[in-house]
Amino acid sequence: MPLDSYVTLGHSGLRVSPFTLGTMTFGEDHGWGSSVAESTSILAAYLDRGGNSIDTANIYTNGHSEKIIGDYFAGQHALRDRVVIGTKFFCNLYENDPNGGGPSRKAIVQQLENSLRRLRTDYVDVYWLHNFDPNTPVEETLRALDDLVSGGKVRYIGFSDVPAWATAEAATLARLRGWAPIIALQLEYSLLERTSEGELIPMAQAMGMGVLPWGPLKSGFLSGKYSSTSTGRIDTTRAQLVGAPTEADYVVIDALNAVAREVGASPAAVALAWVQGRPGITSTLVGARRMDQFEANLHALDTTLTDAQRTTLDEVSTPTLNFPAQNNRMLAPMLQFAGATVDGRPSNVSPLLQANNARY
Ligand SMILES: NC(=O)c1ccc[n+]([C@@H]2O[C@H](COP(=O)([O-])OP(=O)(O)OC[C@H]3O[C@@H](n4cnc5c(N)ncnc54)[C@H](OP(=O)(O)O)[C@@H]3O)[C@@H](O)[C@H]2O)c1
Repeated sequence: MPLDSYVTLGHSGLRVSPFTLGTMTFGEDHGWGSSVAESTSILAAYLDRGGNSIDTANIYTNGHSEKIIGDYFAGQHALRDRVVIGTKFFCNLYENDPNGGGPSRKAIVQQLENSLRRLRTDYVDVYWLHNFDPNTPVEETLRALDDLVSGGKVRYIGFSDVPAWATAEAATLARLRGWAPIIALQLEYSLLERTSEGELIPMAQAMGMGVLPWGPLKSGFLSGKYSSTSTGRIDTTRAQLVGAPTEADYVVIDALNAVAREVGASPAAVALAWVQGRPGITSTLVGARRMDQFEANLHALDTTLTDAQRTTLDEVSTPTLNFPAQNNRMLAPMLQFAGATVDGRPSNVSPLLQANNARY
């Protein structure tokens, strides 16, 4: 699966690579990112392989990530229209300014103007709401975003880290009012964080939203540098910040490392291939601090897992979901029906129902 096997992002005509380049590590402002030279090399390598989708945010390295991307494309104007640049608004870059961030009309417009200035472009392809503010009316946010789409400064809208109920409410409102739709979600998803399977991913599938999983290596826990038997400290700045895996995490990490040995690939490649192959996933956000990590991660594109290997990983990482998802998962055998859906998904009568039929 090469980077140029583009797929549509949700129910839209926008085509993106199966891996989107995450640039939270671009720039050194947070103390754990990459130099300008290294960031630029990673970006060039991604584009060189046919990648077309780049993810950043106003907050990443306090705007430096956007600036690195902007400077790169400013030198190559012909390239800018060939790529999909997504950035996010919400986080406040201005201390003590109550309107410096968030999803109000005033804040959105000024955040976009600042992102466009740093990105040195006159439009953003996907403009992402980065988080949830229960205090701003969702109509205000959606209408402001719709104006930006109508005005040509934004092409598409996405939501990130917003509860499923609030996203569904917003998507329904946008549809009824004829405003720009929410075409995609960003959510944390990896072998160590699967609770989005309860609400967010089924909602995205039902409502025609693409899914871009972030943190697919759980900040490096799934990259191969951890195992329950290794005693060495991981001394990258980010590793210190995120802390160490738990005992439960190590059960999954050890299983991943074993599957990777069997496949003959790195644990990072296997973890990324697992995420990208899960139901509902459109384009995994691949992050790297160094070029060698980025190249290792791209091997996921050539990594094929057998059904047995997938089952091993699925089972060892099965999450306990919130109500009602966990409850309904247990009841699933009783909630199936005879026949099949129009697109061929089976819905067999469960053994329990068959037993009832036999009795009465
Ligand atoms: N919407 C949101 O709220 C949100 C949140 C977070 C991220 N994101 C997006 O998602 C992207 C990816 O997220 P993430 O950075 O959390 O992803 P991740 O893949 O879970 O973690 C990436 C980190 O893991 C380590 N790593 C990566 N590849 C490695 C390899 N091959 N070998 C060893 N270590 C490796 C590096 O950290 P060290 O080397 O420093 O240890 C790297 O910075 C971000 O760049 C950003 O665009 C979005």
